[in-house]
Amino acid sequence: MSNLNETYWETFEAKRKKLKSKIANDPWRLSFHQMPETGWLNDPNGAVQFKGIYHLYYQYVPDNPEGGLVHWGHKTSKDMVHFQEEELFLSPDQSYNKDGVFSGSAFVKDDEIHFFYTGNVKHPGDHDHTFSGREQNTVHIVSKDGFTVDHEEVVIPHEDYPEGFTDHIRDPKVFEKDGKYYMVLGSRALNHRGKILLYRSTDLYSWDYAGVFLEGEKEMGYMWECPDFFETDDKDVLIFSPQGLKATAHEFESTHNSGYYLGSVDWSSETFIPESSFKELDRGFDFYAPQTFEDESGRRILWGWMGLGDTKPEYSNPTVARGWQHAMTLPRELTVENGQLKQRPLKEYESLRKNEVKTAVKVSESYELENQNPRTFELILTLEKLGESLSVHMKEDTVLSYDGQIFSLAHGPSGFGRSERTVEVEDLTRIHVIADTSSIEIFLNDGDYVLSTRVYPKHEKDTIRFEGDAELSIEKWDLEI
Ligand code: FRU
Repeated sequence: MSNLNETYWETFEAKRKKLKSKIANDPWRLSFHQMPETGWLNDPNGAVQFKGIYHLYYQYVPDNPEGGLVHWGHKTSKDMVHFQEEELFLSPDQSYNKDGVFSGSAFVKDDEIHFFYTGNVKHPGDHDHTFSGREQNTVHIVSKDGFTVDHEEVVIPHEDYPEGFTDHIRDPKVFEKDGKYYMVLGSRALNHRGKILLYRSTDLYSWDYAGVFLEGEKEMGYMWECPDFFETDDKDVLIFSPQGLKATAHEFESTHNSGYYLGSVDWSSETFIPESSFKELDRGFDFYAPQTFEDESGRRILWGWMGLGDTKPEYSNPTVARGWQHAMTLPRELTVENGQLKQRPLKEYESLRKNEVKTAVKVSESYELENQNPRTFELILTLEKLGESLSVHMKEDTVLSYDGQIFSLAHGPSGFGRSERTVEVEDLTRIHVIADTSSIEIFLNDGDYVLSTRVYPKHEKDTIRFEGDAELSIEKWDLEI
């Protein structure tokens, strides 16, 4: 029995209609990135390829650009570039999910998709975000097509979680290892440490607690959200989004962060053993709660939420007044090569390239590429020789620069309050920029580092200007969908 009544849906539709009219003609709507049709979007959920079709589900509040009661939105694609908006997949209409159909994942077995998500329920009095007062139930759904639900059941009710945790246990991600199924869940333990819980199953329907997969030290924050695990031929990868890390000179500067350990699993004790430091997946301003999936050709693909879990007071997102907020990053392919995680934009997006410009230049002081489409473009710079520094000026007032040691992404007023992010890179030879109307994603050294940011230019220039002292080759395309 649904607990969202007719009045809820009438008000919901009326609010969406209003938002749609605000959104129409907004030049900051993205061109080839996925964004909410109306309202608010956060985490990618249940990303999967099933019978050839790619499905992207996501945390979605269609009737409010500032967030609220979350549903699962749904988009599909045949080619990972052109997406179609589908009906809402899940709504918070049951007693065990009434305050939000929170994040989760998809797992394909035989001819069915098994989804797992967190049913969020709030009880009066829980506003300290720590201890009692909410339920986060783990729910299992079976679907034969990705559009309709054939079976739905709470598989781990909140009261069955182990002792020693706050009520914050959520975001199930399921994987298979040697014929057994495993689920990782993020959590906040009573000692204010982040932990990843492991459950196991032989049939995907009943789940047993296997123990703590990984426990954080104090400096690793108080809560870990959205865990994800996968194996590669090289190392195993454990991704999660810790809250409460301290910013260092060049790292962990966002309110909340997302990153990974490379390591291996001791399957006898069912624990993850990190063999690297915890590294950020993205060093820009807008990235959180990513999720990966393996597509039918065996690629490991990641989508991140190109937004912040918690926005800093100095940043106010100007699209809220236009009826929507946030987007997904471009999908990226992940690989581990020589012990290093690489992230590259999905190859399919090369099909959008138009009007190629290829040139080799010697910059001494200043050089301009004129008559460029400033709104949606791709730029690949290969640095042959660097003098003191090189800076690249694009969009309205965004500046990328490198001085032989530090790469910087700096916003002007079109960053709406955000200033600068920096990365220490010893030998930077390649800067790959993908710019949409109101976003920029930068891949350094063929995917060693990525920086994603939203940006809101009002009067774009049709030049890309280079300043400094360097020899470089430039490849540039307009991107048209
Ligand atoms: C991460 C997150 C998840 C939760 C969801 C709710 O951004 O807080 O932990 O499931 O968003 O929308």
